[in-house]
Amino acid sequence: MAVRHFHHLGLSVPDVPVQKTFYEDFGLIGEEKDNQAVMRCIGRDQDQIVLTEGAERQLHHISYGATEEGLAAIKKNIDSSELAKEIDCPKETPYEGIWIEDFEGNVLNVNVSEPAPSKGGRNPSIPHEPFQANGPGHYTRVNEKGSISYETKPEPHRLGHIVQFTTSLEKKMAFYGDVMGLKLTDTCEGLIAFMRPPGGSDHHTVAFLETDKPGFHHVSFEVDNVDHVGLGGQGMLEKGYRNGWGLGRHALGSNFFWYIRDPHDGLCEYFADIDYIADDDAWTAKDWPMDVGFYLWGPNPPEEFGMNYEGAKTTTKPGSGGKGART
Ligand SMILES: [Fe+2]
Repeated sequence: MAVRHFHHLGLSVPDVPVQKTFYEDFGLIGEEKDNQAVMRCIGRDQDQIVLTEGAERQLHHISYGATEEGLAAIKKNIDSSELAKEIDCPKETPYEGIWIEDFEGNVLNVNVSEPAPSKGGRNPSIPHEPFQANGPGHYTRVNEKGSISYETKPEPHRLGHIVQFTTSLEKKMAFYGDVMGLKLTDTCEGLIAFMRPPGGSDHHTVAFLETDKPGFHHVSFEVDNVDHVGLGGQGMLEKGYRNGWGLGRHALGSNFFWYIRDPHDGLCEYFADIDYIADDDAWTAKDWPMDVGFYLWGPNPPEEFGMNYEGAKTTTKPGSGGKGART
């Protein structure tokens, strides 16, 4: 038994309103209460990012949903694990369920929940027209213009995954495998690991990068297709935000990506067309060399892409931007 879905992400940041505005510009909707903000996808009845105020940018917690039986199994797993302990619910984020601290101080919540219907994923709550593309022998779009309007506002449909820094890839994989019940999907030269809940999932709902301290790297949201990834990233640059990395296509997971740097030096990714594993027996985890596993095409990743900014105290507000802004 295992967790079933990635429910939401909790982040502490020095300036909640500025971070909230960033996510609103990204396409989410936010609600502010006290010194907190809760971000959701339009039309989805599920918190996706919970912002609390803190002196430094910190990964506050990661929340997963499970069945009643899954939750009971995870409680048992904690009892027999040296990598996890149950803790009290943080008073500032009173979500139901159990709270766990892992071996390096990361906090997790597991609650009993089903993923709320969304406009994204394998079975969206609102049916989408198939993405029309013309390839040799397969012209699915004729007598019709392909490029969409410049004014299109890409809409993030659902939270897809989080990537964390860890001090030990081995222990992190053991924690998420033995305690949370996730499956290993792929690894890359022993430096990156991708994991997913069993029973039908995106290629990854969590991934880890090994560095000298734990931390938050990025959170990722699904949009309709590659055009929406491109327009989403471009639109954020035009609003004056800093480019993270994109547009490109990953090799592991296969998704199109564009990362935007947030005001507290985290990253937020638009993604589309990620690999989906419906049958766990049909997928074999492999270790890939970095040069073929990291990305298929795109600009060279900036040096700061892989840096761990956990503990950042500064808030960077957007610059002037403007139409055509690129960096
Ligand atoms: Fe990602």
